[in-house]
Amino acid sequence: MKAILCKQVSFKYPDGTTAVNCIDLAVDKGEKVGIIGPNGAGKSTLLTLLNGVNQPLGDLYINGILVNPKTVKSIRAVVGIAFQNPDDQLFCPTIFDDVAFGPLNYGLDKSQVEHRVQKALMEVGLENYQDRSSIHLSFGERKLASIAAVISMSPEIVAMDEPTGNLDAFHRRKMIQWIQNTNRTCIITSHDLDMIIETCSRVVIMDKGKIAANDKAEKILKDFNLLTDHYLEPPFQFQTQSQGGKS
Ligand SMILES: Nc1ncnc2c1ncn2[C@@H]1O[C@H](COP(=O)(O)OP(=O)(O)OP(=O)(O)O)[C@@H](O)[C@H]1O
Ligand SMILES: [Mg+2]
Repeated sequence: MKAILCKQVSFKYPDGTTAVNCIDLAVDKGEKVGIIGPNGAGKSTLLTLLNGVNQPLGDLYINGILVNPKTVKSIRAVVGIAFQNPDDQLFCPTIFDDVAFGPLNYGLDKSQVEHRVQKALMEVGLENYQDRSSIHLSFGERKLASIAAVISMSPEIVAMDEPTGNLDAFHRRKMIQWIQNTNRTCIITSHDLDMIIETCSRVVIMDKGKIAANDKAEKILKDFNLLTDHYLEPPFQFQTQSQGGKS
């Protein structure tokens, strides 16, 4: 059974913009897939469909269960999404409360919740932030806190929208290591293709709401012409190769 299966999945915003257009996509359990593409390609919108934040047209299955208003509660226990904008996820008085929100909703006891929160904050490199308020944090710090809020729920499928956006080198590296070390299914959208080649075995190019390519990460990320056709460029490690050894 596939962790994620999209069959002819589309999504149109109320103003008539078709952001996702007839997508077929299958992701195996434990697989790490990078979704890349130009601005406005529909990457973030696709992620919002995975746990029913937006309801898709077509059939989208998570672990064989069709995502619809009836299944959305159980689907959200399986799919955790760290949104592109952390402010969509942080709404509590303290970072502790934000990161504890999911585990508390699962009915875990106080010590289990505390353990989950400490662990998640440590994994993203935000130790000692429990008592801080998100409104006084920098964008990068809020980004990390919103990712910790997803990690603390321990979802089987982790969807991350631009997880390394606005992060310094230390925190970016921690994020890369978290993705590399987890055995969870990961679906990651990003413009940071150097991170994608380090973390994902497969890459999907989205453009204008459609899938333009879907193949092994290295094959796609070495294909200079394919990437430039979609406003992208190869990761740094492949750039010198594709330009005939120039540095
Ligand atoms: N709330 C909305 N209402 C109408 N159109 C929207 C809305 N949100 C996004 N869109 C449009 O949907 C399309 C896909 O947007 P989306 O945010 O999914 O792109 P993206 O690939 O994530 O882009 P980026 O790389 O800039 O994050 C774009 O054309 C965008 O303008
Ligand atoms: Mg986006």
